[in-house]
Amino acid sequence: MICRLLKNVAGYRLSGYRAFTSASVSAIASAAMKKPQVVFVLGGPGAGKGTQCAKIVENYNYTHLSAGDLLRAERAREGSQSGLLIANFIKEGKIVPVEITIDLLKRAMEEIMKKDEQKYRFLIDGFPRNEDNLQGWNKVMDGNAHVNFVLFFDCADQVCIDRCLERGKSSGRSDDNRESLEKRIQTYLRSTRPIIDLYQKQGKVRCVDASKSVDEVFADVRGILDKEG
Ligand code: ADP
Ligand code: C5P
Ligand code: MG
Repeated sequence: MICRLLKNVAGYRLSGYRAFTSASVSAIASAAMKKPQVVFVLGGPGAGKGTQCAKIVENYNYTHLSAGDLLRAERAREGSQSGLLIANFIKEGKIVPVEITIDLLKRAMEEIMKKDEQKYRFLIDGFPRNEDNLQGWNKVMDGNAHVNFVLFFDCADQVCIDRCLERGKSSGRSDDNRESLEKRIQTYLRSTRPIIDLYQKQGKVRCVDASKSVDEVFADVRGILDKEG
């Protein structure tokens, strides 16, 4: 089980670069006085990230932001300059340039915290999915949000594929089909796993066996969240 293997790696620090600080993100932190507390939620396509995030929101004081959902909404937004690009990247299972995704995430966090300053705990689902995502986060959010840990839903590729194909019967998603899924799995293995490994080396990964039933997985998630506070 990858969860167990990952536990043995230690002592490495992420080497993201620090650059300019976005004024608007600083504004989030200062206006609300609480720095956003973030849990990154990662795992293969269909591992159950969205399902578990919904259960976490029901039971804990977190707001769920799915990068994929935000990108799909932007794809559908009338007048969007990025809509076509996003549509193409999603179908091809590729990761959209971070400038687009970080802007959507940042705006969503700002809006939520502006409405209610107590809502400063975020589950950021499906991000950072590659080195570009990570660099973009560090550039815009480093110092302005605190990443508490990474919740990693560990699931065999075939289980992920089967779940997405099943979801595809009703999801209407352009990427829940065999052709896109093969590409999504490759992207996950080549681009996302190395990011999970980097966080693991920082001791920041909390790994859950996502192949179990929804309730069993959630019992393990509870164990982690109750311990993390
Ligand atoms: P992700 O957000 O990681 O892509 P979802 O939460 O959308 O995954 O789940 C993918 C599909 O698998 C959905 O149809 C969901 O109902 C189903 N699913 C989620 N978790 C489980 C589980 N533990 N066991 C079986 N099916 C699951
Ligand atoms: O997480 P989800 O399965 O909803 O993501 C669907 C697609 O959205 C990904 O396969 C990818 O094309 C795009 N995406 C992205 N960057 C992210 C998250 C999702 O490009 N950080
Ligand atoms: Mg999802």
